[in-house]
Amino acid sequence: MTPPAADAPRIPDVFDPRGYAQGLPHSAYRLLRDRYPVVRQEEHEVLGWPAGPGFWAVTRHADVVRVLKDFRTFSSHLGATQIRDPDPADLPFIRRMMLNQDPSPSSQLRSSRGDPNPTPQLRSSRGDPNPSSQLRSSRGDPNPTPQLRSSRGGPNDHGRLRRLVGRAFTRGRVDRFEAAVRDRARGLLTAALDTARAGSGVVDLVTTVTDDYALLNLADVLGVPPGERGLLLDWTRRVIGYQDPDESGPPASGPDGRPADPRSPAMLQDMFAFARELAAHKRRHPGDDVLTALATDRELATPELEMFFFLLTIAGNDTVRSAAPGGLLALARHPDAYRALRAGAVAMSSCVEELLRWHPPVLSFRRTAACDTELAGCRIRAGDKVVVFHGSANYDERVFAAPHRLDLARTPNPHVSFGDGPHVCLGAHLARLQLRVLYEETRDLLPALELAAPPRYLVSNFIHGLKSLPLRLLPSDGDRLPG
Ligand code: HEM
Repeated sequence: MTPPAADAPRIPDVFDPRGYAQGLPHSAYRLLRDRYPVVRQEEHEVLGWPAGPGFWAVTRHADVVRVLKDFRTFSSHLGATQIRDPDPADLPFIRRMMLNQDPSPSSQLRSSRGDPNPTPQLRSSRGDPNPSSQLRSSRGDPNPTPQLRSSRGGPNDHGRLRRLVGRAFTRGRVDRFEAAVRDRARGLLTAALDTARAGSGVVDLVTTVTDDYALLNLADVLGVPPGERGLLLDWTRRVIGYQDPDESGPPASGPDGRPADPRSPAMLQDMFAFARELAAHKRRHPGDDVLTALATDRELATPELEMFFFLLTIAGNDTVRSAAPGGLLALARHPDAYRALRAGAVAMSSCVEELLRWHPPVLSFRRTAACDTELAGCRIRAGDKVVVFHGSANYDERVFAAPHRLDLARTPNPHVSFGDGPHVCLGAHLARLQLRVLYEETRDLLPALELAAPPRYLVSNFIHGLKSLPLRLLPSDGDRLPG
């Protein structure tokens, strides 16, 4: 890369997790996209976490998509998928998770966009409001290819594990939850409205509605019994909210006095023990849930089941827990758009996609260069960390007309909130279902959404979370609500 000219603007820091406590750093992203689309970022010491070697930040949509699709060059396996380097001793363990594996080069997992003939599994989660093929395609495949099975734990296991989870997440199973999800949305929103009526009219929708909504829906789908659901929240706070003391509490110390990595095997033993006990319970008392399907799948080894439980608990909770209030916040800040939605002037399916573009729950994912390569004119060396920024790609003017205009009817909407390429989100159908139902019930129950105080964001460079969203649910002009 040619060094920046002396009068070139300073390269903004998009690594510091504290920078996200004010929302997406749009001006920094814009500057990076325009002037430094692939650029080095310092990984300075922050919040007691030690400095790292630094990484390449990728901010343009086209480059983000290329990195996510080109798994041969940009590996999920080599250094796993988080910005912070894992302890090398933990790496073999972390690589047992499908998220941190690469597909076999010969696998059928082709890119999900621009491929003339993508697999149905991948095609389904790109902006398709009714992605039935994703789940259907991966159901009941009795014969995973032997070469994938034989390489258990290696980079080529990804396709096999993806098929196994797909078998548990059948479309039918997810869709059967819709009625319960709708009851839950209605119950939580009605209770919030009652609280508003009994008090000042203002309610924090995060603590009264969206946190419980995401957690309890996931617990239903997984089959976690009611008495144990609080555990899911503890784990997700510890693992995702670890950069934010409000979420995780003070970090636990490792033997060297440094904060202990919440994703290390030692820190996850209680979760794994719970997954084993729950699986044993499901074998004795099967239900129509994902844990039963995984626990009774004879192809799945116990350590794999534990890893799935970990992955689904984290991937399935905090993402929806971020998307739901993020979408409501966008509607509260755009009363005209909310009115249009209430009037039936825009389709709910495009609304869900635009709110996902506007508020991407995932901020970044990391890859590691497997060979020397070039991206946007920058030479990247084998072993370098490469980090894609979803919140920047979703606002790239090169792809989205007027990206800072919330357009609930925007089509096409090639946002990357669910990722792209072989790791594109496996829970996209479940996530879209939950968001659609929540917005439908909100539209029907809440005539006004008015921001009563600034929202509080999670301190994290990984999840774009909201810790509070105080909304006035009773119109401030004193109009009484019906009912
Ligand atoms: C709005 C909600 C969600 C968002 C924005 C989201 C986002 C993502 C993203 C960006 C990835 C790609 C990771 C990468 O590039 O390495 C991913 C993967 C994944 N997601 Fe989601 N997710 C959501 C909800 C869910 C739900 C509800 C589940 C399941 C309960 C789930 C399960 C998974 C799994 C298993 C993977 C790994 C796929 C693989 O490695 O092949 N996600 N998700």
